[in-house]
Amino acid sequence: MIAHMLQARRELLRTLPTVIPSPMFVGGSGATLGLAVYKRGHPEVLEEALYAGEILGPAICPVVYSATGGGYFMEYLRPAPPSPTLLRAAEELLTEQVWCRPPIRNDGEDWRGLFRRRFAVAVPDWLETPPGLAHGDPTASNMLLNEKWELRIGDPVAPRSYLPMSPDLDRGKLLQSFLGWEAAVYGTHREPMLPPLFAEDLVVLRRAAFWCLVHSLRIMRRETRRAGGPRQQVARWCAMVARVCREVEVAA
Ligand SMILES: Nc1ncnc2c1ncn2[C@@H]1O[C@H](COP(=O)(O)OP(=O)(O)OP(=O)(O)O)[C@@H](O)[C@H]1O
Ligand SMILES: [Mg+2]
Repeated sequence: MIAHMLQARRELLRTLPTVIPSPMFVGGSGATLGLAVYKRGHPEVLEEALYAGEILGPAICPVVYSATGGGYFMEYLRPAPPSPTLLRAAEELLTEQVWCRPPIRNDGEDWRGLFRRRFAVAVPDWLETPPGLAHGDPTASNMLLNEKWELRIGDPVAPRSYLPMSPDLDRGKLLQSFLGWEAAVYGTHREPMLPPLFAEDLVVLRRAAFWCLVHSLRIMRRETRRAGGPRQQVARWCAMVARVCREVEVAA
């Protein structure tokens, strides 16, 4: 009989939508109270709030409520659990909501000289940078789910003068997670992940691999400034990325 009841329950549950319980409290006056988090502590945090709240908007980023006291309040969201399709879901969201939008600054080719001076790396002749809006940091650890299980990507980075305004920067970040960034630095996201779909096009992959290599150079630069020196697993990850990205360049 118990088995029969369990079976009936299983069948019912299959027909019900899955909803994360909303962290909302309703007062007697009809007011609702929702959970929020406050982010502060790095110099560009207000610029980040503006970019998330005013430019990218709530279809991409957590809803920004207000910026005050050197930081900003945003809606409380849960981390998106690692899943094989996480990067593809992010790629779809970015394609539909961000990469298709025009850049907010017309930077032409000006970034190239600034880039060279900053990174001491020459921009390869073959590198084109299709213009478009970018999130700036769509790595797996920045992916969050709202209460409707919709994907949101936190921690955006506003455009920098030494980088082009191009979706390719984001493609490099998706590649960064695909190549195991979270596993190396946080020990998370060790499960296999499907590669983003753009990786099937070798021309696009080559551009993304260039930006992934640049991201790894920035990471390594930051890492060497750490008290106690670079962490071995991060240095190993950067070396692996440099090797793989150069292999992609040669293969393309
Ligand atoms: N809106 C949010 N609600 C709940 N948790 C959040 C929210 N935004 C971020 N977090 C959690 O806080 C962690 C750190 O946040 P965030 O990525 O903004 O900080 P950061 O220090 O700039 O990140 P990074 O490690 O990418 O440099 C995230 O990995 C996420 O788990
Ligand atoms: Mg983050």
